[in-house]
Amino acid sequence: MKVTVVGAGNVGATCADVLAYREIANEVVLLDIKEGVAEGKALDIWQKAPINLYDTRTVGSTNDYAKTAGSDVVVITSGLPRKPGMTRDDLIQTNAGIVKSVTENVVKHSPDAIIIIVSNPLDVMTYQAHITSKFPRTRVMGMAGILDTARYRAFLAEALNVSPKDIQAVLMGGHGDTMVPLPRYTTVGGIPVTELIGKEELDAIIQRTKTGGGELVKLMGTSAWYAPGSAAAQMVEAIARDQRRVFPVCIKLEGEYGIKDCYLGVPVILGKNGVEKVIELDLNAEEMALLKVSEGHVKEVMTVLDNLA
Ligand code: LMR
Repeated sequence: MKVTVVGAGNVGATCADVLAYREIANEVVLLDIKEGVAEGKALDIWQKAPINLYDTRTVGSTNDYAKTAGSDVVVITSGLPRKPGMTRDDLIQTNAGIVKSVTENVVKHSPDAIIIIVSNPLDVMTYQAHITSKFPRTRVMGMAGILDTARYRAFLAEALNVSPKDIQAVLMGGHGDTMVPLPRYTTVGGIPVTELIGKEELDAIIQRTKTGGGELVKLMGTSAWYAPGSAAAQMVEAIARDQRRVFPVCIKLEGEYGIKDCYLGVPVILGKNGVEKVIELDLNAEEMALLKVSEGHVKEVMTVLDNLA
């Protein structure tokens, strides 16, 4: 299994590190446009192998896509992160061109790859990669649902003083303030969360989850990386080990949930072919209304992308 991570910034390097130390791939290529950065970080990760005991080979490349040739999975983290006061959508102008040109190189050198997008604005960058690659939708997906769900689960674990391992949840919609956490599908060791926490506290957690990325941007002056990088690596693992894990993943909807031609987070089964199946939940009217709001927002930003071209 050969995996390329494009973008050796904080998110890309974290992803490459997790892929290496968890031996998810035999070879990880880290690529960046900044001279020497990817080579340096790949070498640093390789020098950690005798300490953490793994044998994944990590290779760096300054924009030489020949080194990425034949990758099974490519994770695209390229582009600018946001700064305090910015929304993810504010990045579209810069990141659209970057994701387009990276995708063109990926298609040229790894025509059979599965592409995982991490760049923001996530849903619309997944759209960009999909229309540029012309790959089937099952091989072009965005990472956000695992991250947003992880934030929701972490906040719940803290509030309930239980292990985050025992919290299961689904979160749908776009990667932004219109995301749709689903308390009806949230359990704690199999117990519906609503039996363990009051509505007011749960609503506050949902609100904090929706703005979870922004909370970190405010604290650090730039975007998060540990959880995003690990979430992308978890998607690669599901594909590499054909685990058929059930995760919320951003994919083009083709009629599921009554939604067409929109890129949104929905629960899917993730395995060796990429998205093996989109799972359709029986949403109630309130949940469906929230998903429609999210669809409306993502479609607006998709139109911005269409008008950039
Ligand atoms: C996140 O949610 O952490 C990422 O999308 C980065 C960001 O700017 O919020």
